[in-house]
Amino acid sequence: MLGDEERTAVLEVLESRSLFRYYGPRLLGKVAQFEEELARNIGTEHAVATSSGTAALRCCLAALGIGCGDEVIVPAFTFIATVNAVVTAGAVPVFAEIDETLGLDPQDVAAKASARTAAIVVVHLENVPCDLGPLVAIADQLRVPLIEDAAQAMGTSYRGRKVGSIGVAGAFSLQLEKNVTSGEGGALVTSDERLYLRAARYQDQGGQFVTSHMGERGRELDDPFVGENLRMGELAGAIAGVQLGKLPGLLERLRSSRQRLAQAIGPVEGMTERRVPDPDGEGGSSISWFLPNPRIAREFSRALRAEGVPCAQMYGGKPVYANPAVLERRTASQKGGPWHCAEHPTTVEYRMGLCPVTEELVGRSLTVPVGPSWTQLDCDQAAEAVHKVAGALL
Ligand SMILES: Cc1ncc(COP(=O)(O)O)c(C=O)c1O
Repeated sequence: MLGDEERTAVLEVLESRSLFRYYGPRLLGKVAQFEEELARNIGTEHAVATSSGTAALRCCLAALGIGCGDEVIVPAFTFIATVNAVVTAGAVPVFAEIDETLGLDPQDVAAKASARTAAIVVVHLENVPCDLGPLVAIADQLRVPLIEDAAQAMGTSYRGRKVGSIGVAGAFSLQLEKNVTSGEGGALVTSDERLYLRAARYQDQGGQFVTSHMGERGRELDDPFVGENLRMGELAGAIAGVQLGKLPGLLERLRSSRQRLAQAIGPVEGMTERRVPDPDGEGGSSISWFLPNPRIAREFSRALRAEGVPCAQMYGGKPVYANPAVLERRTASQKGGPWHCAEHPTTVEYRMGLCPVTEELVGRSLTVPVGPSWTQLDCDQAAEAVHKVAGALL
C-alpha cells in the first residue's frame, strides 16, 4: 500500500533537486540507503538497486561473466523475464522440469547439465520458495553457481534463511504487483564482494559513476568492462525504502489471510495442493492446486471467477517456452544472439513437449491469489464458491 510516508519521502527528494543517485546539489542518498537496508533485511553483505527485476537478473549474470557459449538452466515454468535475461546476456537457456512445488526439479537439473552449464536460475514463484536444499546440493555437485530469481518472493524464507541469500546472488523485482514496489525497480543481493563490485559496475555503464563514488572498494573497479544503464533513481529509491519497512507487516497479513482461506476450504477430493517446501517461510499470497486434467482446470477457473473469486492458471497454464519468441528462437537480430552464434554453435532446440512433466502439471494447475486485507467473511465466501464449483465439476 502506498501512503503518506511514500509521499513525504518523494517530496523530500524533489525538494533536494537531486534525483540522480550518484550526484546532485543536495544528494540524500535514498538509493544507497535502500541498498543498505535491503542487504541487512535479507542477510547479505551487499545489495545493488536496479531499474527492474530483469535488470537485476542481467546484473547477476554479468557479474558471473556469463555470455556467449554458455548455457543457463532455467525452469520450464516461469515469467518470460527469467529467460529474456539469459538470452540478452548472450547465453542459451536450457529448460528443466518443475515438480509439484512449481519450482525446479533437482533431478532434471542434473539431467540437463552439460559442460557448457554456467549457472542455474531457480525461481520462487508466488512467494513460495523452491526446495532449495536439494537444488543447492545439485549446484554444488556440478560446481555451478545458483542464482535465485526471487522477483516474486522478497522477504520469504527457506529453513530460516531469506531467499536471495541462499544462492550466490538473488534478484528482486519492485514492479507494481510485488511485495515491495516503486512502480518499476529491482535489486540484487549477494555476499560475494567480487560479484557485488561487478554488478555495481555493470548497472552503471561499466562503472561510469560508481567507480568514483566507491573507488576505494576493490581492485575489480580498476578493471573496466562494458555495461549498461540499469540504475535506479532517487525517487524510486525513496519509495522503495519506505516500502521495505512495510514488508514484515504485509507478509504477516498475507500469511494469516492464506491460513484462514486454506482452513476454510480444507481438503477437497480431486484438488491436490501445490507442495510448499517450507510452509513457515512462504509469503502466503496465493493457494495453488492441481486438478484432474486441463479441461477441468480451465472450467474450474472460469466457474470460480463467475462466482466472484479471483483465480487463474498462472502463465495461461503453459510452459515459458510456449512463447513464440522462445519457441522460434527469435532475438532482435537474427545475425547474432545465442542461438545463431557461429563461434558457439548450439544443438539446443525448443518445441512443445520439451518438458512433458511441466506441461502436464501446469496445464491442470489453478491459482487463487490471496489479498492482505481478506477478512474471515471473504475467506468463507471464497471457500463456499470453491466447494460449489468442486461439487459440480469433480
Ligand atoms: C519470476 C520473475 N522474474 C523476473 C521478473 C522481472 O521483473 P521486472 O518486471 O521488475 O523486470 C518478474 C516480474 O514479474 C518475475 O515474475
